[in-house]
Amino acid sequence: MRRLWVRKSMVLLIAEASDDPHALGDHGKIRLHRTLSRTSLVSLGIGAIIGAGIFVLTGHAAAAHAGPAIALSFVLAGLVCAFAGLCYAEMASTVPVAGSAYTYAYATMGEFVAWIIGWDLILEYAFGATTVAIGWSGYVTSFLRDIGIHVPAAFASAPLAFDPATGGWQTTGAYLNVPAVAIVLALTALLVIGIQESARFNNWIVLIKLAIVVMFIAVGAFFFDMANWVTSTNPDGAFIPPSAGPSTYGWHGVVTGAAVVFFAYIGFDSVSTAAQEAKNPQRDMPVGILGSLAVCTILYVLVGFVLTGVVAYDKLGVPDPIAVGVDAMGLSWLSIPVKIGAILGLSSVILVLLLGQPRIFYSMAHDGLLPSAAAAVHPRFRTPYVTQILTGVIVAVLSGLLPIGLVGELVSIGTLFAFMVVCAGVLVLRSTHPEIARPFKTPFVYVVAPLGAVSAFYLMLGLPADTWLRLFIWLAIGLAIYFLYGRKHGHVGRSL
Ligand code: ALA
Repeated sequence: MRRLWVRKSMVLLIAEASDDPHALGDHGKIRLHRTLSRTSLVSLGIGAIIGAGIFVLTGHAAAAHAGPAIALSFVLAGLVCAFAGLCYAEMASTVPVAGSAYTYAYATMGEFVAWIIGWDLILEYAFGATTVAIGWSGYVTSFLRDIGIHVPAAFASAPLAFDPATGGWQTTGAYLNVPAVAIVLALTALLVIGIQESARFNNWIVLIKLAIVVMFIAVGAFFFDMANWVTSTNPDGAFIPPSAGPSTYGWHGVVTGAAVVFFAYIGFDSVSTAAQEAKNPQRDMPVGILGSLAVCTILYVLVGFVLTGVVAYDKLGVPDPIAVGVDAMGLSWLSIPVKIGAILGLSSVILVLLLGQPRIFYSMAHDGLLPSAAAAVHPRFRTPYVTQILTGVIVAVLSGLLPIGLVGELVSIGTLFAFMVVCAGVLVLRSTHPEIARPFKTPFVYVVAPLGAVSAFYLMLGLPADTWLRLFIWLAIGLAIYFLYGRKHGHVGRSL
């Protein structure tokens, strides 16, 4: 029993973070490469954040739940992320090793919780990359169609469909979602070649997608008209339309809208998985996490406000709401750049999520909870190539076969669960190790951390019951693997 709760000592973690071979007793071992600057870290965060959420989900959340008050939903979801982001920033600057929430849990709540969170993070990273790769394929095929290139549906959609009513699987007649598989494998190859090459590629994409989003806001502001708030369900044109049923408009609609657009914020925490590749993690991790979150929150609120000011929200329940907004402005020339921006934007989300997952596997293998071969670092590229290729193959298979709805819902619940654990972990570490150096301290931690955990749980409650069920099934599978393998092999537990 004692092994379940064994914690990884701060002394060991700080030695790992400092890459000191004397302290670690593993001279000659190849390590990850410290090349990421502060700007690259902020850019990684933005790369992971701005994607399917803003380019796809905003429209549905406005049309079905929040109306023009979608901007408020973004404020609410941003607030939940800010609480969690402040806790992540403290943890990432205090314990700057690659495993993110998994490592923080190992240091604070013991091996068992760490395993659960490591397993749970697969939902955020691998399933997140899968979801966005399927979305990417949809955007690319629709863009190609616009310019006269027709990709047959049999090669651009999922061969499997899940019927939630019967709980059964069906075949759709399609063979494979080829574009989704192709983007995952291409980005995996880039990530194996090098962290710096990947970061440079990401920096360019981030510049382009930021330019597109800022352009949409700046141009859209000239077309903003409050008359667009008036619809059949909102005859007075109120900012928060009157409630029209559970979760439909009114304050409840705003909160449900926040749970839906939460997906748009996922990714700022992936900065923390690159802690062992940052030049100066203690100083730069908080800037990367909080900086990217702040930039995206401001942009999201403005996009939500402008979008519902240029198109009536009841017309936004479409897969490409930003393009619909551009069309409503009568600026068809902007439509192509927006679609290209969305496609590039989704690519960098896939890239950064594919970057995060192997670094968590790497940390788990390093600790013995996964086979040690998975902790290998490539001698020339200095990347965790074994786990990177493994992640790429798994995500490619999933995104080639599965429908988007099934995987998408799991990503938010998995991420929110990790947020709760990190918020709790900060408090635990404050009480167990008040003495260690904390380059960044969460302000008002005894208020912010509990608020972070409670608000994340509140958003989890807004997700459908079958998503909860899938989370429990996923965690049960993880528990079985832990008891069959990890508990026997974990280095820290074995030393007891
Ligand atoms: N935040 C990421 C997106 O919206 C996951 O695509």
